[in-house]
Amino acid sequence: MNKITIAIDGYSSCGKSTLAKALAQRLGYTYIDSGAMYRAVTLYFLRHGIAVEDAQRVKSALGEIQIRFDLANRTLLNGELVESEIREMRVSNYVSEVAAVPEVRRAMVAQQQEMGSEKGIVMDGRDIGTVVFPRAELKIFLTAAAQIRTKRRYDELQAKGVPATLEDIAQNLQHRDHIDSTREDSPLRKAADAVVIDNTSLDRDAQLQQAIALARQAG
Ligand code: C5P
Repeated sequence: MNKITIAIDGYSSCGKSTLAKALAQRLGYTYIDSGAMYRAVTLYFLRHGIAVEDAQRVKSALGEIQIRFDLANRTLLNGELVESEIREMRVSNYVSEVAAVPEVRRAMVAQQQEMGSEKGIVMDGRDIGTVVFPRAELKIFLTAAAQIRTKRRYDELQAKGVPATLEDIAQNLQHRDHIDSTREDSPLRKAADAVVIDNTSLDRDAQLQQAIALARQAG
């Protein structure tokens, strides 16, 4: 099977990263979490009090930010391990505003394209199949019922010890989905050639099997 590029997009907390990681592991591919990059930028903005309206400061900040992933796929912001901090609610509550800024998107998309310049990668996000890798051989658009997504996010945060209530999470998901799909610059959309997987009642293994079969057909 030839190595390919796999783009996985969808609404918040659909299980994109769980599927993307498992698929990458199974195929021996590199996994890249593009959402973590927007979260790292957001954390930097929060720490330095940078408002998204301040175009000058946003521009200079982007030149100060270096985002990398370690071998365990954990996010490093200017060399500092921030994997837990970028999952906190204060970041979740601001990330979609930051990700809607065209300058921020341009900088992240350029890095993502560079990271994925060789085949054999799985990247998940909101605009991977439409903007970052429009020529990806396999595009998956994941969906799941809102209630299920809220419960999954809640369980995930509980397991990591990040404090949040079900209500906060439901509100945050709704808020992010709204901004992500209505922003002017690269809104969340299903690419015309993406395959939809609704995982509302699919377990992890069933989704993975479907994705592997699709990757085999595409490769
Ligand atoms: O994937 P995750 O939920 O961690 O992404 C956090 C936020 O980053 C999303 O709600 C969205 O605002 C933004 N994002 C984006 N484009 C991507 C990935 C994430 O705008 N490719």
